[in-house]
Amino acid sequence: MNPSGDRIAWLQGGDAKCVKPRPFPTSPLHLVLLGPPGVGKGTQAELIVAACGACQLSTGDIFRNAAKGGSGAPPSPAMATALAAMRRGELVSDDTVVELVRERSAECLNCERGFLLDGFPRTAEQARSLDGMLSQLNRKLDGVINYFAPENLIIERLSGRRVCRKCRTGYHVANKPSKVSGVCDACGGELMQRDDDKPEAIRTRLQAYAATCNPVLDHYRKQGLLHEIEASGDPKSVFAKTSVVLNKLAPAS
Ligand code: AP5
Repeated sequence: MNPSGDRIAWLQGGDAKCVKPRPFPTSPLHLVLLGPPGVGKGTQAELIVAACGACQLSTGDIFRNAAKGGSGAPPSPAMATALAAMRRGELVSDDTVVELVRERSAECLNCERGFLLDGFPRTAEQARSLDGMLSQLNRKLDGVINYFAPENLIIERLSGRRVCRKCRTGYHVANKPSKVSGVCDACGGELMQRDDDKPEAIRTRLQAYAATCNPVLDHYRKQGLLHEIEASGDPKSVFAKTSVVLNKLAPAS
């Protein structure tokens, strides 16, 4: 995924300043995207961003940005621990992730264009912390979308994913191939496989997800915020189902 516009402030973390949001013709949406690794959250996030203008805030992107050197400064001890866990395909501790999101809350969770949280919260503890941060800002979630698909399809999506080393644009060897094999269409950079998309890490990630997802889903189900979407079709057809939910949450003005 290509970190563009004001998402750069999200990736820089801390108190990095956001470029001024451009006006967008729909009401701001405050959304959480849930679902197992590889189900297509990032792919749908790109389409939702284009449709409603909210910024995609992916915790996985923060970690990957830090892993490739971030701002150039050495990672903090908490970030170094997070990166080691991620390389093993494990979840990062709740305290670390919550702290990283909290650092950005005054800007990103308070943005007048809304937000699209992708990959956070992953545990009930993170979900409760998010509730606390939003209530301090006097904000509320409009909805939580949970994507699901059969495990064999998820493994196929993860093992075929390729990402540009330079601009982070995402591809899939079969579903979304680049024009020239191994070369990014957008910038000519080299395409690579994420370390956590290798077979051993995929298994660990799916197990880690299965162990933590139900309490998070219950948390939002109880609040009446959860929308479930079956994500085994192509990205366009999954987005058509997503749009039905978005239109209920924020009817076009
Ligand atoms: P993160 O980057 O968030 O990874 P993830 O949740 O595992 O999700 P992915 O990015 O792998 O998958 P996706 O659902 O976005 O799928 P995509 O659209 O790319 O996090 C990485 C790691 O960071 C975690 O494992 C964890 O260690 C750590 N972490 C992050 N947040 C954390 C938190 N809050 N707490 C603790 N730890 C945290 O699609 C996958 C592929 O399929 C692509 O190639 C795509 O082209 C293809 N595809 C997508 N949709 C379709 C479709 N409909 N049809 C055909 N192909 C499709």
